[in-house]
Amino acid sequence: MSRRPVNPSRRHSDGGGLPFLGSIHSKSRSSPLLSIGLLVVGAVLLICYLYSGSGRAISEREALSKIEGGVSCTLEVHRAIPVLKKAYGDSMHKVLHVGPETCSVVSKLLKEEDTEAWGVEPYDLDDADGNCKSLVRKGIVRVADIKFPLPYRPKSFSLVIVSDAVDYLSPKYLNKTLPELARVSADGVVIFAGYPGQHRAKVAELSKFGRPAKLRSSSWWIRYFLQNSLEENEAAVKKFEQASVKMSYKPACQIFHLKSYH
Ligand SMILES: *[C@@H]1O[C@H](CO)[C@@H](O)[C@H](O)[C@H]1NC(C)=O
Repeated sequence: MSRRPVNPSRRHSDGGGLPFLGSIHSKSRSSPLLSIGLLVVGAVLLICYLYSGSGRAISEREALSKIEGGVSCTLEVHRAIPVLKKAYGDSMHKVLHVGPETCSVVSKLLKEEDTEAWGVEPYDLDDADGNCKSLVRKGIVRVADIKFPLPYRPKSFSLVIVSDAVDYLSPKYLNKTLPELARVSADGVVIFAGYPGQHRAKVAELSKFGRPAKLRSSSWWIRYFLQNSLEENEAAVKKFEQASVKMSYKPACQIFHLKSYH
């Protein structure tokens, strides 16, 4: 169950190479020299592909292609769900995801056993598909400006997961939004933020997000959390690291684990 997102991509990539070789074989009768050359190139490509760590190679490419060549930490949440489940256990029962493309994360979480999920989409949902519209109609996903108090009671969710959204907030608004995320959670807040220097979607994004992403260093974030009395959830950090090693998970975004308010 928990290995689901890793294995299908691996199977896909292994299987992907074989028909390619097969098609070269069938051509080899017409032009032997060309086909031997192609076969060598194909074999080299296949070996490179297998050595590059198939699962990771594919999901990164997906992540890169998704938003105009930019890295999306929301897609990183998809990859991290099995690791989060292992690290947080029962705290994954009632999850709120906050961030762009939240419908995709909520849909994925709803497929997990023993997990209820809700979402806050901080930006317009102009291009929402039918599934997303249905989640909004049912009130599972809400479109809400996260610069303002979240429309939920304290400790409404066991875990709050945030991706990308905080990269677009100035420190002034972060001062309002991060305490809100801690307020509506009971067992913790997980923040996925971009690394400085990562490419983000550009032109189309500006009109949607209002300002370009400000990708901050981990030392910036840690100083910020300290100033605002948001404590690191050391137990969760440890469990998440252990689960990451076990599952060969290497995040493409910075991941912070914070405690909820008590
Ligand atoms: C955010 O809150 C911290 C702690 O209260 C404060 O030191 C800092 O000046 C605030 N930043 C802004 C931009 O309001």
